[in-house]
Amino acid sequence: MALERTFAIIKPDAVGNGQQGEILARIQRAGFKIVAIKTMRLTKEEAGGFYAVHKERPFFGELTDFMSSGKIVALVLEAEGAIAKWRDTMGATDPKKAAPGTIRHDLGTSIGNNCSHGSDAPDTAAFEIGYFFAGMELI
Ligand code: RTP
Ligand code: MG
Repeated sequence: MALERTFAIIKPDAVGNGQQGEILARIQRAGFKIVAIKTMRLTKEEAGGFYAVHKERPFFGELTDFMSSGKIVALVLEAEGAIAKWRDTMGATDPKKAAPGTIRHDLGTSIGNNCSHGSDAPDTAAFEIGYFFAGMELI
């Protein structure tokens, strides 16, 4: 398997609950290298641009309100097979369906408040990394 990069977010629910440290510890225990990291607060428009693929979905307004409701931590993670590995570490989208030991199962509270984001494919990872980080931040 090739060394790969993925994009991750610690969402506003987890930052608001002070769970950034717990999630960063899980990222490190899982064996990811943190290539880039920053804390920021998105506007609703910036959140909408990030989740543009979902703009026709009924939950888009709720999702962009939530993602702009407080600070997030944006990360670029590197590992062998990082995209699938990070989605496995997070667990299923709905915390109720996620496996015990995953971030969303252990720390998430609902399908909206599910603590974390992860890219789902190489093309989305490339778009999402470039949406948040400049080339110089990724050396
Ligand atoms: P993410 O993009 O945040 O990593 O989550 P995902 O791939 O597991 O799920 P996706 O289908 O991309 O959905 C993006 C986010 O929208 C919220 N959502 N709400 N109310 C609903 O039915 C619903 N469905 C999805 C979730 O917070 C999900 O993470
Ligand atoms: Mg997604």
